[in-house]
Amino acid sequence: MKLSLHPSALTLLLLVCGLLGISQEENLSITKSAILAEEVGVFDKDLLPASFHQERREKLRELLPDSSMAVFFSSPVRNRSNDVDYEYHQDPNFYYLTGLREPHSLLLIYKNPVKINGVFTDEVIFVQPRDNKQELWQGKRLGVEGVKQLLKIKMVLPTPEFHKTNCQIDGMNYTYFLPDSEDTRDTRSEYDLYDLKKQFLAQSVRKKGNRKLGYFIAQLREIKTQEELVIMRKAIEITCKAQKELMKNITPEMAEYQTEALVEFHFKNEGAEQAGFPSIHGSGGNSCILHYTSNRRMFTHNDLLVSDIGAEYHGYTADVTRTIPVNGKFSKEQAIIYNLVLKAQSIGIDSCIAGNSFWIAGQVANNVIADGLLKLGIIKNKMDVKKYFPHGTSHYLGLDVHDVGSYGKLTPGQIITVEPGIYIPANSDCDPKWWNIGVRIEDDILITPRKPENLSRCVPRTIPEIEQLMNQK
Ligand code: GLY
Ligand code: MN
Repeated sequence: MKLSLHPSALTLLLLVCGLLGISQEENLSITKSAILAEEVGVFDKDLLPASFHQERREKLRELLPDSSMAVFFSSPVRNRSNDVDYEYHQDPNFYYLTGLREPHSLLLIYKNPVKINGVFTDEVIFVQPRDNKQELWQGKRLGVEGVKQLLKIKMVLPTPEFHKTNCQIDGMNYTYFLPDSEDTRDTRSEYDLYDLKKQFLAQSVRKKGNRKLGYFIAQLREIKTQEELVIMRKAIEITCKAQKELMKNITPEMAEYQTEALVEFHFKNEGAEQAGFPSIHGSGGNSCILHYTSNRRMFTHNDLLVSDIGAEYHGYTADVTRTIPVNGKFSKEQAIIYNLVLKAQSIGIDSCIAGNSFWIAGQVANNVIADGLLKLGIIKNKMDVKKYFPHGTSHYLGLDVHDVGSYGKLTPGQIITVEPGIYIPANSDCDPKWWNIGVRIEDDILITPRKPENLSRCVPRTIPEIEQLMNQK
């Protein structure tokens, strides 16, 4: 095997280990792992460590009842058209529990150890074997050895061996399995697991039990560990930087796709792998379309732009929205609506105290906006607030932009968004001076034992701050 770590990097690594008081043996194992990581195409040095995923599997095992197992499949490869696939994106649960970012893999977690191939184990993963020919086209794979060494899963077998292996599934009281609603067949891979997934579903795999697995996973994923917080802060920091660059560089002569390009340049330039969801850059009337993503319109001089974006860093995504005037100055009506949303958001954020209901920010924000719209004569009845504020105010944030969670009480370690909005499309039943004003303000809020921490606070939110940054071109 070719050693691809530069000798000076090796010396430095050994030196750092020495300084950290790491033993010779551990030292050697870290060095071997670093060499192997490069060999199998893993270049990022700040990925979640194997110990994180190991501990997550342990926590899930604690929640499983006796004589049960949970089965997780990697995401399928999704075809875009003809012989081109979408860029691969791992299933968030699979990534959370393994760290593996490859398709055609299957993870089995057992509550109690079972005998597989003559060995007792409480977990086994089946992964794509290494294959020079396929790796030439598709990129390097960890393979059985790489997964063993780098991801530290107790038993690792090649995917084609699943059918020959007695995984002791029949002896279980419960076999939990979460079906993927968007499942597809990968017709071009000999390792496709589509039929196997269908078998799990058909034999299934008691339906009530499956809902329980979703709940177990949500309970774990909704509380971010210290390691996850480091990654989340990085994704949010990159996104905030992109929002600030947008404020500094936008001009009324641009088109929505150019501002989209501007923020996504910053995502990748700062090391984010991709956007966590399609960037929403809605200007003028498009600011009133909640999930507008075509981003093809040219700005006109007095437009507002809703920019709802999130960088994805090592699997975790941010979600930060700002609404800005493309010419750098809010009109009188735009400012009135903006300040109403800002007030609702600020009171919403302040309400995100541990122990309060998940829904608290939505309740207080709705109330503020309903009162404000009534006062402005835009609605005649508080109940009509939903006409102009038709969406929820919060969602959990993490591996998914709309992350899983249990929707109970707010708890330290959760990250939720607070994102009220007001959208008044043309021809609405109010004075035309309000038409085509769409405003959403969204921040990412960490629940702590004390006051909530706004992780995206460094992007200007008030009108004077925004106008000041925008005019600093
Ligand atoms: N950022 C899009 C959403 O929260 O729905
Ligand atoms: Mn959001």
